[in-house]
Amino acid sequence: MSVPHPLTPAKAGMSGENGGEVLSKPRPSATPLDPTSLRRDRSSVQSALTYAIVPVGPADAAQLARVHVQAWRESYRGLLPEDYLRRLSAPLHARRWRARLLRLDEITLAAESQDGALVAYASGQAAREAHGPFEGEITTLYVLRAAQRIGLGRALMTGVARALADRGAHSLVVWVLRDNRRARDFYEGLGGAPAGERDEMVGGTLAPTVGYRWTDIRKLTEG
Ligand SMILES: CC(C)(COP(=O)(O)OP(=O)(O)OC[C@H]1O[C@@H](n2cnc3c(N)ncnc32)[C@H](O)[C@@H]1OP(=O)(O)O)[C@@H](O)C(=O)NCCC(=O)NCCS
Repeated sequence: MSVPHPLTPAKAGMSGENGGEVLSKPRPSATPLDPTSLRRDRSSVQSALTYAIVPVGPADAAQLARVHVQAWRESYRGLLPEDYLRRLSAPLHARRWRARLLRLDEITLAAESQDGALVAYASGQAAREAHGPFEGEITTLYVLRAAQRIGLGRALMTGVARALADRGAHSLVVWVLRDNRRARDFYEGLGGAPAGERDEMVGGTLAPTVGYRWTDIRKLTEG
């Protein structure tokens, strides 16, 4: 990461299957991490890994691209064309991330380990199809498999939702591949209500997706 500063524990002892501990790192524009959103001790395997939820910028594009390519291959095998997944290019996605991170209308947060490696990210912006006065949308959310189920997905969702609420969003929506059952279970677990179905271009193919909506964004931001 580009801006070095001290780590401040958000909640001590948060650990999971991978033994990760989530810390919040106060950067000038950092979204505070809700301690109540963190998973507590529920694993048998411990490790020294710790994570901070941090805002990212163009200097992080290469790392985000690495996570993107790995996470898509891990998550979408059997859901998207194998050929598309094999051809995913980290340098290409680094260029795309660099351009994307220069936009001011999208917020991106990432989970960073103590050694500075990113293992997860989420982005949000105003919803592509507005529903209500100002609806936010989670546009992307990926956690590397090795870092899943320790609270990072929830912490990133909460962080992006907070940042969107700060910009005036009242509700939140996310679209997910219809057959991505694990992610759907995650969104349903966080209280998302069905928001319809539509086909979207994902991974070079038109795929059925389903939406989840939080009509009151505070359900996420207030834990
Ligand atoms: C879906 C995903 C974002 C969840 O992130 P995560 O860090 O693994 O989830 P968390 O550890 O924060 O879990 C938060 C809650 O969701 C639940 N949850 C997470 N994954 C779940 C699953 N597969 N099935 C059921 N519940 C799940 C957890 O039990 C937890 O609830 P709890 O704290 O009350 O026990 C992550 O698994 C992922 O990146 N998957 C692959 C990529 C993907 O599909 N992204 C979504 C694209 S739209």
